[in-house]
Amino acid sequence: MKIGLIGIGKIANYQMQAISHTKGISLVDAHDLDPVRAEELPGSVTFYENFDQLLKRSTADAFMVSTPTPSHFEVAMKVIEADRVAIVEKPLCISPEQEDALRTAATTRKLPLYTAFHPSYGREVEWWVEQREKQNFDLGKLLGFESCFADPYYLNGELTLGAVGKAGAWIDGGASSLSILSRLIDPSAMQLVDGRMTTIPSLKCSEVQGLGIYRFIVDDQPGFGIVDTNWTLGKNHKMTRLWYENGSIELDHAKEFARLNHRGGDELVFNLATDKPRLVNHYCGVFSNLTEMYEKGEDNQELSCKLHKLLFAANRKI
Ligand SMILES: NC(=O)c1ccc[n+]([C@@H]2O[C@H](COP(=O)([O-])OP(=O)(O)OC[C@H]3O[C@@H](n4cnc5c(N)ncnc54)[C@H](O)[C@@H]3O)[C@@H](O)[C@H]2O)c1
Repeated sequence: MKIGLIGIGKIANYQMQAISHTKGISLVDAHDLDPVRAEELPGSVTFYENFDQLLKRSTADAFMVSTPTPSHFEVAMKVIEADRVAIVEKPLCISPEQEDALRTAATTRKLPLYTAFHPSYGREVEWWVEQREKQNFDLGKLLGFESCFADPYYLNGELTLGAVGKAGAWIDGGASSLSILSRLIDPSAMQLVDGRMTTIPSLKCSEVQGLGIYRFIVDDQPGFGIVDTNWTLGKNHKMTRLWYENGSIELDHAKEFARLNHRGGDELVFNLATDKPRLVNHYCGVFSNLTEMYEKGEDNQELSCKLHKLLFAANRKI
């Protein structure tokens, strides 16, 4: 599968490393509004200064949209309207209206549409999904969860450069958290109970903090969970704690480890990190899943649709 990259920013480097580690996929072309970004590309990749020329001439099978989140809609729509396949960084877009327009445009043209939910491929997430499938540790049924995604993007009364490219704490961290939870809880069995967003009036950001409370049913067992996203804590903290009938598991998404408490026994710590950076591990998962789906003519629209519904429900109170 040949990929064209649109947007060569901070995340592109990790994506390029992951592509080079994944069988059956290669990067052929790229485009960025800023031509200086072309310096980041390996010699084998052709840089197009003009987006229309890229879409017209590129031999890529699909285009990875890695531009700032508020521009996903406009860029992805251009890809689809050119009858080409779009793989869009999570979140796909920032409103239900944009989402509906993108899905309609792709469906009308019979094009697949992918969302790259990279955090759901974290090593610690993959590991825990596998333990649950193999019924290791016998923790029993899931009763609840608490997921926190905090980035230090609000310092000295201003948003930092790290916030550029992200639309808000909720839309960014909420999409990450919900995609991780979907590996363990069917999103169709989740429902929003309440959503709260914090706005700081001096900032051009409607959600520097966002909270979603959800109810769910897994194995006939009802439960509740909280997704808490925050840019004002001044720290990088990404963690999901799930509690079960016989114990709990804490997945640290920033450090790639898991901490298990089983029936009050000694705590077990599992280090799942590799020699590769965390984000390279994530994108290896994204691209291997993508090539598999592409070969079968499938996409992840159904999952993406359910996750964005849960995401937008919290900040739109639908
Ligand atoms: N930085 C991270 O840690 C991280 C992690 C995972 C996912 N992401 C996601 O990746 C996306 C990009 O984030 P980033 O941190 O790499 O952003 P960035 O600001 O570092 O880079 C974005 C790049 O896109 C280019 N660009 C902007 N508008 C464009 C347009 N209309 N057409 C073509 N190029 C355009 C910019 O010139 C820039 O080089 C975002 O959706 C973000 O949520 C970022």
